[in-house]
Amino acid sequence: MKRILAVVGIGSLTTVAFVLAVQKAPPPSNGIAYPANWKNWPVVSVSYRTDNHTIRAIIGNETAVEAIRTGKTRPWPDGTILGKIVWKDTTLAHWKRAVTPGRFVHVEFMLKDSKKYASTYGWGWARWLGTEQKPFTKGPQTCISCHTPVRDSDWVFTRPAPLP
Ligand code: HEC
Repeated sequence: MKRILAVVGIGSLTTVAFVLAVQKAPPPSNGIAYPANWKNWPVVSVSYRTDNHTIRAIIGNETAVEAIRTGKTRPWPDGTILGKIVWKDTTLAHWKRAVTPGRFVHVEFMLKDSKKYASTYGWGWARWLGTEQKPFTKGPQTCISCHTPVRDSDWVFTRPAPLP
């Protein structure tokens, strides 16, 4: 009996933890739900913006990584999610010439679904700001207008970083 109670106890604790985790997800951005698990996605490239001194890591979900491996990125397949994590730059305390991530700025995503997002060129556009992950809700137009120079490469700037 004791053992059964212990199992039930652990079961409910897991449920509570799960509910808390679900509740903790930030609200949607532009109607798009917060992509779960993005912190575990592989980095597919990095970039640095010289004008505003920010470091970027470009990440991709499993579908994105598979598309890169098989060279099928024009267009990117439905189910692809590309993310970009942005930090202000800083330098290493003990090696000032090394630039490294400082303050976290935002994380943003492009989610490919050619039917669902047909009116926004096949991509859903979403962003969460700051460590509090406040959703950006002003709509996808800001994103789209800045990505227009790369409309011919399916609206994506990034070239996956070369690897051996
Ligand atoms: C000021 C112009 C600008 C705006 C506005 C902008 N982007 Fe981008 N975005 C870029 C550039 C340039 C890159 C290439 C990587 C980099 O930033 O160094 C990029 C890269 C990305 C990437 C990685 C895939 C790729 O295209 O390389 C994602 C994801 C992304 N942006 C999402 C968004 C979303 C979502 C918004 C709107 C909330 C947005 N962007 C608004 C300029 C912009």
